[in-house]
Amino acid sequence: MRIPFIAGNWKMHKTPEESIKLAKEIDDFLKNNEDIEVDVLICPPFTSLYAVSKEIKNPKIQLGAQNMSYEEEGAFTGEISPLMLKEMNVKYVILGHSERRQLFGEKDEEINKKIKKALEHDLKPILCVGETLEERESGKEKEKVKKQITEDLKDIDKEKASSITIAYEPIWAIGTGKTASSNDANDMIKYIRSILKEIYGMDVSEKIRIQYGGSVKPHNINELMNKSDIDGALVGGASLKSKDFNEIIDF
Ligand code: PGA
Repeated sequence: MRIPFIAGNWKMHKTPEESIKLAKEIDDFLKNNEDIEVDVLICPPFTSLYAVSKEIKNPKIQLGAQNMSYEEEGAFTGEISPLMLKEMNVKYVILGHSERRQLFGEKDEEINKKIKKALEHDLKPILCVGETLEERESGKEKEKVKKQITEDLKDIDKEKASSITIAYEPIWAIGTGKTASSNDANDMIKYIRSILKEIYGMDVSEKIRIQYGGSVKPHNINELMNKSDIDGALVGGASLKSKDFNEIIDF
């Protein structure tokens, strides 16, 4: 059984003080609703991680980073090392988000190196994949996603693969208010699991959680989570208000 996994990607929002406030509101909600059986992750900006890690001690809220360097230390101005993340009690790291790929030119080869480095340090990667609108309209969405998964997971050990999460995020659905239909999302997620099965075999592919991301809101989470293969959500905009995020956690 895969435990549902809801993650909030705060992107470039929230100062350290604002982050503490939001994290506390989620923490309070979880403390008052102990029966919720969902793994909850928040991914504040780097500048808030330390403050949030000091304030929130609830094992039900894990902390994630939004990116990471594949280097550990050295002359890499502006980069953040996995060792720095670990010291702040970060357990997960989002890698290959479409904004990193599109706006900052991250290539599959680099994402592959980051995933390997994260795993080496026991940080759990959330690998984001997804097609553009053009690719979907020309029927190339599966081809695109398969290429990303095979290149991003190249030479990654079977033993470590089950700690990876995949987030299927069609680029045209991110921040646009357009969601993939729950059937289309489920269909792609099933397909992703079949690729994972080809690479890692049945056992491991059944352990890997696959989230959907792209305009997930309180009003559509239930329908998405009711689908057979969707294990959770990577939530952007709606993770910035505790009321919305808490409703999503409590789908
Ligand atoms: P969104 O973002 O929920 O605002 O569409 C999702 C994401 O980019 O992870």
